[in-house]
Amino acid sequence: MPVIAVVGALWGDEGKGHLVDYLSRDAEIVVRVQGGDNAGHTVVNEHGTFRMHLVPSGIFNPRTTCLIGAGTVVNPDTLLQELGELEAAGVDTGRLLISDRAHLVFPHHRRRDELEERGRGDRPLGTTRRGIGPAYSDKAARIGVRMGDLLHRDWLHRRLQQAHAALAARLRALGEEPPPLEELIERCETWRERLKDRIVDTIPLLQAAIRRDARVVLEGQLGAMRDLDWGIYPYVTSSNTLVGYAAVGAGIPPQAIREVIGVVKAFATAVGEGPLVTEVHGELAERLRRGGPPEGWEFGATTGRPRRCGWPDGVALRHAAWLNGFTALAVTKLDVLDGLEEIRLCVGYRLPSGEVLTHVPDTPYLEQATPVYERLPGWAGPTADARRWEDLPEAARRYLQRLAQLAEAPVRYVSVGPGRDQIIEVGP
Ligand code: IMP
Repeated sequence: MPVIAVVGALWGDEGKGHLVDYLSRDAEIVVRVQGGDNAGHTVVNEHGTFRMHLVPSGIFNPRTTCLIGAGTVVNPDTLLQELGELEAAGVDTGRLLISDRAHLVFPHHRRRDELEERGRGDRPLGTTRRGIGPAYSDKAARIGVRMGDLLHRDWLHRRLQQAHAALAARLRALGEEPPPLEELIERCETWRERLKDRIVDTIPLLQAAIRRDARVVLEGQLGAMRDLDWGIYPYVTSSNTLVGYAAVGAGIPPQAIREVIGVVKAFATAVGEGPLVTEVHGELAERLRRGGPPEGWEFGATTGRPRRCGWPDGVALRHAAWLNGFTALAVTKLDVLDGLEEIRLCVGYRLPSGEVLTHVPDTPYLEQATPVYERLPGWAGPTADARRWEDLPEAARRYLQRLAQLAEAPVRYVSVGPGRDQIIEVGP
C-alpha cells in the first residue's frame, strides 16, 4: 500500500482530521508532519468530538502507531493535556510517539509570539499566539532545543545555555525579563520524566513499514495559502504546508508518497489576517459559518475566533493543486451549500489594471484583486444523508466535477457532515 499524504488546499481548517481519522482505519502509521498546537483538527467518532492539536488523528484506531514528526514544533504542556483528555475519553494513547528531532515550544516562545503580535499594532498577522513562529525561528537560527535533547542531560544543559543567551537578548528587546536558566532546566526535567518513553528515532519505524508496503498516512496542517513560501506571505504560518515538506517532516524519500489527497472545503474560510478574495459578509457569511451541525461551525478550533467565510475559490485550489500535484481531492462540508440558489465559484482574480489572473499572485497584487465568478446552479438538499455519489443532487455533482476540472484531479471523497459514515467514497 502506498504512502498517502493528506494536505490542505486552502487556508487550513478544510477537514483534514476528519479524513485522516477515516483513512487510518487501516493505516499502520499516521505521521503529523509539520506545525504545532496551532492546529485544531476536529474529529467526531464513537469516542466523542475531539479538537486535535498535536496528536495525529489516527490515534482512535487501536492498531495505528501515531508519530509526531521531525518537522513539527511541540509544546509538551499542551501535548500532555491533550493526551490526558484523550485518555479520559477512553482512548488508548500508548501508541503515540514523538520524533527525537521535533523542536520544543517553551512558554517564552508563546510570550514572544504575543509580544511580537502586539508590536505589529494595527497590522497584526493574526497568529494563534501559540509560539509557532518564534519556535521555528529558533530552529532556523540553530538555537532550538529538540525532543531528543531531553534524553541527554549534559548535552541538554549546553543547548539550554546557548538558547538562554539568545532568548535573553530577544525578550529584553521586547521589554521583558527572560526566565532564569534554572527554570528552563527544571521544566525540561519535568518534561523528560513524563515523555521519555515516547521519544524515538522515527526512521527505523517508517523504513520498516514502507518496505513492508504497509499503509502510512502523512497528516499535514493548515493549507497551501498559509504555506511559508507559497502562501499569502507574511500572513502565513512558519512552516511549509505543501506535500514537498511532508517528506522532510516525516523523514521519508519524496517518491515514497504515491497519493496526495488535497482536502478542500466546499467554500472558503480563513481564520487570521491576510487577503481572502472571495470573502462575503452579513447574512451569507453567517449562513456559511453556522451551516451544518454545530460541531462543524466555523470558529477556530484552537482560538475560538469566528472564521472569515467566502465563496469557493477555484484559483486558490488550482494553485494548491499545482504545488502539491494532487492525485485526488476530498471535498468537505458540501452539505453547508444545501439550499443556495446558486454557487459562485471564483475562477479568476481581476487586478485594478483590468488584467485577470488564473493563478495566485504575490500578496501585494492579491490585496487589490477582486473575484471573477462563474455561476453554477445550486441544489435544494439535504445532502447529509447521501452515502453514494449517485445519492447527491445532480447540481452538486456538477459543482464537484467543476472543482475536479480546476484541480486536474478527481474527487475521491466527499463529506456531507462530521460523522465517519458521512464520507462518500467516489469510485473511479
Ligand atoms: P501561526 O501558525 O499561529 O503563526 O499563525 C499564522 C497564520 O496561520 C494565522 O493567520 C493563523 O490564524 C493561521 N493558522 C494557524 N494555525 C491554524 C489552523 O490550525 N487553522 C487555521 N488557521 C491557522
